[in-house]
Amino acid sequence: MPLPPNVYDAEPIPDGARAEIDRLLASGDLFRYTAPENAPVALLEREFADLMGAKYALAVSSCSAALFLSLRALDLPRGARVLVPGFTFAAVPSAVVHADCQPVLVEVGENYRIDMGDFAAKLDDNIAAVMISHMRGHTSDMDAIMALCDARGVPVIEDAAHSLGTQWSGRKIGTIGKIGCFSFQSYKMINAGEGGILITDDADLIARAIIMSGAYEHNWKKHPVLQDRFATWQNRLPLYNMRMQNLSAAVIRPQLGELARRVQDGRANHDYVAGLLNETPWLHVPPPLAAELRAPDSIQFNLMGFDSDADALAFQDAASARGISVQIFGLSQDNARAFWNWQFIPGGTPDLPRTRAMLMRACDVRLPARLQKPDLDFIADALIGATFAVMEDLRAYGT
Ligand SMILES: Cc1ncc(COP(=O)(O)O)c(C=O)c1O
Repeated sequence: MPLPPNVYDAEPIPDGARAEIDRLLASGDLFRYTAPENAPVALLEREFADLMGAKYALAVSSCSAALFLSLRALDLPRGARVLVPGFTFAAVPSAVVHADCQPVLVEVGENYRIDMGDFAAKLDDNIAAVMISHMRGHTSDMDAIMALCDARGVPVIEDAAHSLGTQWSGRKIGTIGKIGCFSFQSYKMINAGEGGILITDDADLIARAIIMSGAYEHNWKKHPVLQDRFATWQNRLPLYNMRMQNLSAAVIRPQLGELARRVQDGRANHDYVAGLLNETPWLHVPPPLAAELRAPDSIQFNLMGFDSDADALAFQDAASARGISVQIFGLSQDNARAFWNWQFIPGGTPDLPRTRAMLMRACDVRLPARLQKPDLDFIADALIGATFAVMEDLRAYGT
């Protein structure tokens, strides 16, 4: 019997990282602002901006830090209302609360994308900014979102934590809104354990974000971007100290060259498993939107015809018995992606019936790009086998 694939381990860090890590260990030069120029973090910022075709990049301690700094860089008034999808990770509304703003949750449909009817209805004169989480790498309709937001002059922050390498009509996700934020936490396309980066073409936003990330005194001079903007903000902004350190950049930089291959493999793996799952009437992987070219490192699918929560949980147990761990977002206790658990939001969370219904049957399985065909077949067989087992029981015994 083949063993279940390990879907949690990342790829090894490319050997190219070793010499630079040894140099940093030998010199102890870990702080990004010690070297007069070309510190690993500064080089990463230049390389990442070039890779994305953005003017500016700022590497920080996490994507959550990038989201927080983006909101602070926009200089929103205390209590400003920020639209956020109702299906995302708790760190996203948390970043909004951290920035002294009020998250306003929008419904998400059963294809995991923002419900544009609810979005348009909630984008009223009281909304100061929009934070679009491309949750699990699913891109919402960016044409419609940008048209609505541009018409009102509302800035859009893209939370592209899971979308490095995704394209929308040939444009890189994270470059469509005013600011794009990415994660280097281990379960993402590029793995530094922790880390994040934000990109923008706006000189004032990047200057403000750089200072607030912890470029105290004149450390901003080590960011070779429009220097005159920094003078404007000198001593006028708080320092939140969310900097990235050099070792993280040394781990990330050699992975940038691996990204295109990982994206291609991740998409091929996903589409292969999706094709197999979609052959059963009880599992449905929603297709991408027409403009979307995805970069998945996990797969989401909906249970179809599982009328009760008990049936859905029986499927989860049957998959587990076959060696595959499935998370049903709404049915695992205290899940950080279930909006009703975001009780830290001031005033509480509204009910979002569509999002709730989706979360109660939406399944999540990790599918890292390094998996090979036998791994994928194992996963698909386990999921399909689990479905048949539950459905046959239901047929035999009813619910
Ligand atoms: C959609 C989404 N946005 C943001 C984050 C936060 O990323 P980080 O862990 O780098 O803060 C996550 C974390 O997984 C996420 O899933």
